[in-house]
Amino acid sequence: MSHSLLVRPAQARHVPALLELLDALFRLESDFAFDAGKAERGLRMLLGQDDALALAAEARGRVVGLCTVQTVISTAEGGPVGWVEDVVVAEDWRGRGVGRRLLAEAERWAAERGLTRLQLLADGDNRAALDFYDRLGWGATRLVCRRRTL
Ligand SMILES: CC(C)(COP(=O)(O)OP(=O)(O)OC[C@H]1O[C@@H](n2cnc3c(N)ncnc32)[C@H](O)[C@@H]1OP(=O)(O)O)[C@@H](O)C(=O)NCCC(=O)NCCS
Repeated sequence: MSHSLLVRPAQARHVPALLELLDALFRLESDFAFDAGKAERGLRMLLGQDDALALAAEARGRVVGLCTVQTVISTAEGGPVGWVEDVVVAEDWRGRGVGRRLLAEAERWAAERGLTRLQLLADGDNRAALDFYDRLGWGATRLVCRRRTL
């Protein structure tokens, strides 16, 4: 399968398909509500950002996966690290190596830019995603997420 899968930086023409993937992802995460207008604005901002990456996975001309990375400065690391977000694969393409390819490409991009760590948040109830990250060698932390709306 992997020979027919293309993982590369997303382009503006991919946005409608990426919005469908984000809709599916947000349905799984009770902390978020999907808003197509906001999602599109956010995606387009990411596409124009030098220190961020939005990866699209394409199979047979169809967008089947998304993963984004954004750079922040870590005082713990003394340099740039990356936040991985928006990891989602189309339902009929799950379990076929697309997620693994997306994260491998995100890691390659991050390492090339001197990022020393990647981190992400996952819904504590999303056992499938947690098992996926375990399988890919992502360590667990004791951190929990808090937020305050402005
Ligand atoms: C989680 C998700 C991104 C994984 O992508 P995927 O393309 O299905 O995963 P892959 O096929 O690349 O699997 C990679 C490895 O993880 C394992 N894995 C994937 N899904 C798994 C699951 N549900 N349970 C256990 N292991 C799993 C695979 O067995 C595979 O291991 P292997 O390569 O050693 O055989 C995808 O299932 C998805 O989009 N889920 C819904 C959205 C979501 O939850 N996103 C994460 C938000 S934090």
